[in-house]
Amino acid sequence: MNYNNIISDFIDGVTTITINRPTKLNALNRATILELNAAFKAAESDFDTQVIIITGGGEKAFVAGADISEFAHFGPEQGSLLSREGQDLLFDFIEALRTPVIAAINGFALGGGLELAMSAHFRVASENARMGLPETSLGLIPGYGGTQRLTQLVGKGRALELIMTASMIDAQKALDYGVVNYVVPQEELLATCYALANKIKSNSPVAISAAIKAVNAHYTDGLNGFEVEISEFGKCFGTQDFEEGTSAFLEKRKSKFPGK
Ligand code: COA
Repeated sequence: MNYNNIISDFIDGVTTITINRPTKLNALNRATILELNAAFKAAESDFDTQVIIITGGGEKAFVAGADISEFAHFGPEQGSLLSREGQDLLFDFIEALRTPVIAAINGFALGGGLELAMSAHFRVASENARMGLPETSLGLIPGYGGTQRLTQLVGKGRALELIMTASMIDAQKALDYGVVNYVVPQEELLATCYALANKIKSNSPVAISAAIKAVNAHYTDGLNGFEVEISEFGKCFGTQDFEEGTSAFLEKRKSKFPGK
């Protein structure tokens, strides 16, 4: 599929999706959200894609937020719809993918940008990255899951401070807070993510999907994470990956997971 606002590349088991509106600091307009939804869907249904990396084009921004010019004239109903549609199409969608998603934060990740990064399964930042949820400075609150996911990652006090002050934190503080797992020089950002992807790729895709489901259950209303874990753990025993993983261990060889 041809995209206007993003680029999707596949190399060696990894699909890298790059938001490509650098002159607008990769701000998320509706067209970009729809293209991202299509690209993530395509990567998820591609059996050869074992890891997805999401990053921003250019050296300045991952994503500087939702596109303010698109919603500046909205009323309350359109505002609710914007939030619901965005969460369904992109943010909740990414979090629930079976395929692991790493956010490579290469610069500003503000508002919807940080919300997008927080929807990924984990994050790596470049040293120049700056993150925040500045929506209250626009008379809004975060609407793409930011109030929930930032609180999950950093706790209530830090999340509310960041939201109420609309301030940005640098990459080092994001690391201290646990928003990102690593901070690396910008020129090493993608290589670091590919190295992590390679480690993930050596493990069972079926087990990794089950782990995502079980961990996500902790944050899903009405689900008991321990019960989901028991169920997913049990299901693993019926997979070819389990057969291969245990046989390889006992035969003292490296496993070659069929991903089934
Ligand atoms: N929505 C729409 N356009 C945006 C945008 C956003 N969230 N963030 C940046 N842009 C656009 C700017 O309007 C500008 O476009 P123009 O050149 O056509 O005028 C371009 O991207 C470059 O941004 P600029 O503000 O000139 O860069 P800067 O280096 O001076 O400042 C930021 C960088 C990130 C501090 C600043 O762009 C900013 O505060 N952006 C908004 C952040 C925000 O509030 N996000 C939450 C939205 S809910």
